[in-house]
Amino acid sequence: MLIKNCRILIDDKEEITDILIADGKIIEIAPNIVGNVEILDAEGKLVIPGIIDAHCHMRDPGLTQKEDFMTGSMACAKGGVTTFIDMPNTVPAVITSKILKDKKNMMVGKSYVDYGFNFGGSRNDNSEEIKKIVDEVASTKIFLNMSTGDMLITENQTIENIFKESKIVSVHAEEEMVAKALELCEKYDKPLYLCHLSKASEAKMLREAKARGLKVFGEVTPHHLFLNEDDVKSSERNTMLLRMKPELKSKEDNEELWRALADGTIDTIGTDHAPHLIEEKLAKLTFGIPGVENSLEMMLRGVDEGKISLKRLIEVMCENPAKIFKIENKGKIEVGYDADLVIVDREDKSPIKDETVISKASWTPYESFNKGGSVFATLLRGQIIYLNKQFYGKYGREIKYYE
Ligand code: DOR
Ligand code: ZN
Ligand code: ZN
Repeated sequence: MLIKNCRILIDDKEEITDILIADGKIIEIAPNIVGNVEILDAEGKLVIPGIIDAHCHMRDPGLTQKEDFMTGSMACAKGGVTTFIDMPNTVPAVITSKILKDKKNMMVGKSYVDYGFNFGGSRNDNSEEIKKIVDEVASTKIFLNMSTGDMLITENQTIENIFKESKIVSVHAEEEMVAKALELCEKYDKPLYLCHLSKASEAKMLREAKARGLKVFGEVTPHHLFLNEDDVKSSERNTMLLRMKPELKSKEDNEELWRALADGTIDTIGTDHAPHLIEEKLAKLTFGIPGVENSLEMMLRGVDEGKISLKRLIEVMCENPAKIFKIENKGKIEVGYDADLVIVDREDKSPIKDETVISKASWTPYESFNKGGSVFATLLRGQIIYLNKQFYGKYGREIKYYE
């Protein structure tokens, strides 16, 4: 496959070039490549590396009325996400090596995009189980605050044992729990990934911890950048819909999170794609919102608004998640990397609409927000999986980790 006329970012400059792909890998990047191969013309459109979303709840197995690996991965393909990492609060929760193995077997052949798994830390101390699977998962996820599912751990010794045995720990930690997670990161000299920072004070803790030399990384969601408590109050419907953990904060928190994202304090965008059906959301207070399909559209809007550069967008959505979780061959447009590519229509500034949502959630928190662009095509390891609103081929497979 040869992709002609791609506008890609090379050393901060946008250049038009061709990309030649063989056996799923990028083998040449140069203008005017000729070859007797299948051609896709990007017609000067922006091409970025496939997005890696390190924070998705695909609900499979056990909660598949909300989402499953197939529908969730279609939402990914439409959103330009070519790799997602799934969270363990499914039914059953992924807290034993046996459950992980069964889940991996169940998901073969279901996904349009590549995927990895997080293992769940459990309150009955599953650190012995973690030892068995530590190389087969992206990280161990620990819930230090209450959230959807029943995975909260409060016992200190249990949390410490889980830290000791993990390769990297991802935490759901809010406010003072962020401080606690940072203490353990330091004590055990263990890489720590702070999920969904939502407050200026949390970004400040992260900035200080990095300055002290801790191996800590921070994630922010598009909703904690673009939405705040005023949006929650804006209508009766939004009072029910725009609810998640951590909850939306103030306009000042939005601004400070943008700053921390731009200055390198926050490392990644993760969507915390946590779909619930609209009926479920309206019937009773339910935490979690869908995200994967609009994250690039919204972050490009952030670029248009001058909040971050396109280069920074690619770092935080593509490059950094691959580095942090040591995902092989992904996150960059470079020779030797997987040909996971997104062709972006930057002219499309149309409003985001509930009607076009692919996720089983069937609604979007960004209804009527104008996009900063949309996905024209998504390629996974050189294969077209999404083009012009059509889906092709469940080619997704599990990712590998280096080291
Ligand atoms: O709002 C949330 N929903 N926060 C979480 O941490 C979990 C998620 C879910 O699984 O619904
Ligand atoms: Zn969480
Ligand atoms: Zn989550």
